[in-house]
Amino acid sequence: MQNDPDATGAASSPPARRDFLKQGCAACLAVAAVGAPAVVGTRVFLDPLTRLKTVETFVKVTTVDTLPEDGTPMQFPVLADRRDAWTKFTQVPIGAVFLQRQSKDKLLALSVVCPHAGCFVDYEEEKQGFLCPCHNSLFTKDGKLKEEQSPSPRPLDTLEVQVRNKNEVWVRYQDFQLGITEKKPVA
Ligand code: FES
Repeated sequence: MQNDPDATGAASSPPARRDFLKQGCAACLAVAAVGAPAVVGTRVFLDPLTRLKTVETFVKVTTVDTLPEDGTPMQFPVLADRRDAWTKFTQVPIGAVFLQRQSKDKLLALSVVCPHAGCFVDYEEEKQGFLCPCHNSLFTKDGKLKEEQSPSPRPLDTLEVQVRNKNEVWVRYQDFQLGITEKKPVA
């Protein structure tokens, strides 16, 4: 029988490559099998962090005696407790609100968020109203649209406000959907 080293080499090389490829594919599948659940698991693990929920509905914002008696709106941060699946975060900022006295016993609370695309409006004393710096929507002092052709599709969003214990101002802070004429809370 003839012993041809070239023939032996030619015969053994392809199975070696096949083995190598098989091992490589097995390794890829193993990584995919372990990696995919790991990625999904990480997302499931982190997901509650991205879904913080506000614990309270009404939050104490300030006291009545801090508000100017002439009705000038003042901006206040809104702090509230929030929680995810595991942790409660106390007194974190969730937004801001403009408060003003409309009469001795009546307060008005307006969201600072422009209903057009969500920029924060500023109160302009000389204009006696609110201006959105992003696309120049103008609102009256009580939040109504100043111009018919306004980028904002609706007035500023009012928020429920209560006076508790004679002096505490509590606001029910909510986010509303942007870019629509109706005032609809974000689900
Ligand atoms: S975001 Fe206010 S006018 Fe566009």
